[in-house]
Amino acid sequence: MAEPRTLSQFQHRLLATAALLLAFPMGPALAADDFFDYKGSAWCADCHIDKYSSWLGTGHGKMVTTCEESLARSLPLPAGHTCDDISYVIGGHGWKARYLDENGYFVTSVQDRNGNVTEGMNQWNLGTERWSDYHAGEEGKPYDCGACHTTGWKADKDPDTDGDLSDNQDGRPGIHGTFALGGVQCEACHGPGYTMEVDETTAFCATCHSREPANKVQASDGYVRHQQQYNELLTSPHSRRTCITCHNPHESGEGSLNRTCQDCHSTQASSYEGTKMQAAGVDCVDCHMPRASKSGEPISPNEADVRTHIFRIGTAAEDQDMFTEDGAFVRVDDNGKARVNVDFACKSCHGGQSTDWLMANATDFHNQEFKITGGMSGTWWAGSDRDGEGWLLDAAANAFVAAMFTYDAAGNQAWLLGVGAPEGDMVATSVEITEGPAFGSGFDPNDVVRTPWGTANFLFVSCTEGTVELQPNAEMQARGFEAMTVNLSRLTESAVSCSD
Ligand code: HEC
Ligand code: HEC
Ligand code: HEC
Ligand code: HEC
Ligand code: HEC
Ligand code: HEC
Ligand code: HEC
Ligand code: HEC
Repeated sequence: MAEPRTLSQFQHRLLATAALLLAFPMGPALAADDFFDYKGSAWCADCHIDKYSSWLGTGHGKMVTTCEESLARSLPLPAGHTCDDISYVIGGHGWKARYLDENGYFVTSVQDRNGNVTEGMNQWNLGTERWSDYHAGEEGKPYDCGACHTTGWKADKDPDTDGDLSDNQDGRPGIHGTFALGGVQCEACHGPGYTMEVDETTAFCATCHSREPANKVQASDGYVRHQQQYNELLTSPHSRRTCITCHNPHESGEGSLNRTCQDCHSTQASSYEGTKMQAAGVDCVDCHMPRASKSGEPISPNEADVRTHIFRIGTAAEDQDMFTEDGAFVRVDDNGKARVNVDFACKSCHGGQSTDWLMANATDFHNQEFKITGGMSGTWWAGSDRDGEGWLLDAAANAFVAAMFTYDAAGNQAWLLGVGAPEGDMVATSVEITEGPAFGSGFDPNDVVRTPWGTANFLFVSCTEGTVELQPNAEMQARGFEAMTVNLSRLTESAVSCSD
């Protein structure tokens, strides 16, 4: 809340006061001090119901809840513990929950029915739906995290002795400070009561979403450490964007996006449109913002649980060592920019593929032309306008046969056979027309007449769409065939994947 007050904000406050007086003409008179007391988000809801109802769905307000409130969110309690001995639950909205006992210290051990104590198993992980260890067995681990988790936090003045419990929340010695409200409520961002200030800077969000020093991104155990959205953003191509360029802070998850990748990167968005992966529901963020950052228990060596804000993907061999040699930081280039490696970008889905294969397929990802594959073999046509005519295509990476069944100028059935070798998304074929012996037992292959017809050049944009340019030679033109280009599309579903 570092922003200086402006006249316009002051005017807004006056307006708000007037609105309050109109809303509650008989209400109790407020002393000047009360104007700037914490009043709770429900109070703001009276006048800002839209902000309040969307904010309710975010994790901000749920960061510190009572045991009973957490049960209402269907969070489990550590074994052997009940709401009688748990005062507060920390988090449990997005990634993980930790628990404070009746004295305000972290719960660090659990108990079975027979009273046997097990150290750890005290952190609930939402991603894996399992318990794991947080400072297992450590007794008297205090809660001193309130600056980022609560509203109106005041730090404990005598944390070492705790002789005076008036600066410990509810007099619980394990909570090393007091707060006005649990969680990141409206007033954590807008100031208490009638303050109603707005701070739109990234530095403000960074007071909670960063680690010191901000110009480095910390790592541990092969993952980026969580709570570093600001640090990451500085190493990204979007370092000059603010958090609220992309996020509406009153909304949660995907719904919080003011702008999507597609809004600013239409070239990549349109080249990605219609690809197999797009059709399978793979989104920009799945590759560019993979869960490389770890809050709770990781899901696999290549997938933790918090989306990274590094955005760039490194496709070169030297980008694949994403962390410094000691594993403590994310590596950056001479311009201070970082890259996520293909293991994080791709292996959450392509766990079976080698890093080399992924690097090759990631390189120039948005500039790859379509390549003809065996999976395109099948029946194709030129749409209902040319119903009754068709193509049988037999495609492989190095060979391509096209059989067109059509009609000659006199309306007799004609078969054109094209053969060629694909080059990327194109194949040029030389075409023959076959005429020959009569149907039946007297069939003699020597009587088949193969006459050069001309060329047919195919260009495909996907496994299901393409065009063919037909060019008959002079002799065939004399027989009434004309040059033309038609759009082809696949008539039948293939059982074979297009990528095969
Ligand atoms: C009695 C009605 C009322 C209550 C209660 C109220 N506000 Fe407001 N608020 C207003 C009015 C009126 C304005 C000025 C018009 C506007 O910008 O919508 C305003 C403006 C604001 C602004 C914009 C200020 C600016 O500079 O643009 C913020 C932020 C804000 N309120 C937050 C809060 C928060 C947080 C609470 C609860 C702690 C709260 N308000 C409670 C009526 C109220
Ligand atoms: C995490 C910080 C944060 C929290 C929590 C938060 N806000 Fe805001 N709010 C902002 C920021 C930043 C802006 C300015 C950018 C924007 O509008 O998105 C803003 C803008 C506003 C505005 C003025 C916007 C406008 O459209 O004129 C109002 C009113 C407001 N907030 C009310 C609330 C209320 C009520 C709550 C609680 C229910 C709340 N905010 C919770 C950060 C927050
Ligand atoms: C007072 C500390 C604090 C401030 C200031 C703050 N945040 Fe947060 N933010 C948190 C905490 C703590 C969480 C984790 C809440 C949870 O999910 O339990 C969080 C979660 C989030 C989330 C993910 C949760 C969700 O529901 O989508 C987003 C997005 C976010 N913050 C954006 C912002 C932006 C943008 C700003 C600045 C306008 C901001 N935050 C300011 C503490 C803060
Ligand atoms: C500098 C601010 C800051 C401090 C200090 C801090 N946190 Fe957080 N914490 C955050 C933010 C921001 C998030 C959400 C974003 C993220 O994890 O990347 C978060 C997330 C969490 C979550 C997961 C929330 C959820 O809904 O899943 C837990 C649990 C948590 N913190 C516990 C702690 C504990 C325990 C401490 C103290 C030992 C602590 N934090 C200190 C800012 C902070
Ligand atoms: C508000 C607009 C905006 C949004 C939203 C946005 N970007 Fe960007 N992005 C930019 C701009 C501008 C640059 C160029 C920055 C520069 O080069 O200084 C950029 C650069 C990039 C780059 C690096 C480009 C390069 O040539 O190396 C990548 C990768 C990228 N963005 C991915 C994404 C993804 C993925 C999303 C969605 C999660 C996204 N962007 C959302 C504006 C945006
Ligand atoms: C270029 C756009 C962009 C910018 C700038 C940006 N974010 Fe995000 N952020 C996203 C997108 C996209 C997501 C993923 C939303 C989704 O699909 O759930 C996200 C997710 C998050 C999450 C939740 C992570 C998770 O695992 O779900 C937090 C917390 C967050 N952002 C905080 C911030 C903060 C704080 C800043 C500023 C320091 C910031 N973001 C800047 C685009 C952006
Ligand atoms: C969120 C999951 C997901 C992620 C992340 C992902 N993929 Fe895929 N990918 C898929 C699926 C699903 C398919 C199969 C599509 C089909 O055949 O229907 C696929 C198919 C492919 C194919 C065959 C494509 C084709 O058009 O025939 C290639 C090549 C590929 N992925 C490369 C990558 C690379 C490189 C990355 C990382 C930069 C990556 N993928 C990240 C899910 C993913
Ligand atoms: C399957 C993974 C994957 C998906 C999905 C994906 N990208 Fe990319 N993108 C990449 C890879 C890999 C690179 C790096 C290519 C290189 O450096 O050679 C890249 C590069 C970029 C760049 C940098 C400029 C460029 O063209 O190389 C931008 C911008 C970008 N992507 C935006 C997007 C947007 C927007 C979306 C969603 C519409 C998207 N990407 C979807 C993998 C993906």
